[in-house]
Amino acid sequence: MRPLIVANWKMNPATREEARRLAALIRQGLSAVRGVEVVLAPPFPFLADVKLSCRGLIRLGAQDAFWETKGPYTGEVSPPMLKRLGVSHVILGHSERRGLLGETDEMVNRKVRSALSSGLRPIIAVGETERETREVVPPTIATELARSLAGIPRRSLERAIIAYEPVWAISTSRAGRPGTPDHATRRAIYIRKLLVKLLGGRVANTVRILYGGSVTAKNAAHYLSRDIRGMEGLLVGSASLNPGEFTKIVSSLGRGA
Ligand code: PGA
Repeated sequence: MRPLIVANWKMNPATREEARRLAALIRQGLSAVRGVEVVLAPPFPFLADVKLSCRGLIRLGAQDAFWETKGPYTGEVSPPMLKRLGVSHVILGHSERRGLLGETDEMVNRKVRSALSSGLRPIIAVGETERETREVVPPTIATELARSLAGIPRRSLERAIIAYEPVWAISTSRAGRPGTPDHATRRAIYIRKLLVKLLGGRVANTVRILYGGSVTAKNAAHYLSRDIRGMEGLLVGSASLNPGEFTKIVSSLGRGA
């Protein structure tokens, strides 16, 4: 399975021109890299520009989508709108949305259903807020995962992606300290086990698990273990706004042409 690298630009950059330039530089930097799947997730107003700048080589992601498909929902954007724009992936339940905007697991669940019915691949973000002090797995991961997937037909979840992002490791969070590769691998194994319980082995095995939180060119390759099935991709925030750095991250996981 090729590693999947998702660039979460969050509410950046400031203008269309910058977004276009950033996407074009990333595309240029990656033109000779093979064996990695890359998704750029810019803010909504830049999706069309980024799509043009990437000309089909890089996939397009959104940072959120509502659960209804149309109607009186001021400010919301529907999955079919995104699909028609050429978006293939959508990040749902990011900790910033959960924390700042009060997004709940139930809301994430509705969004996941709707994204799947519109043919988008949901990237469902889960992760604990506080770094544990003892070697106990925080219950947040299991709760968020179970609630976000509850009642969704198993077969449709083959297209789902889970992003494990400990909030304490996000570069802009208060603590903002990177986790270790060993910790990431242990969490990937733990999440895979939870998925097997929730979805059964066959479906669970098709779900990709990504790692996020202070990923840089220096540490990116370490989070993906080659010998056992651990993390299978990365969700990159701050470092994805620097085209040189992001290109290095992707190159470190792919192969040259
Ligand atoms: P970071 O952000 O790479 O800047 O830590 C990751 C994210 O929040 O998706």
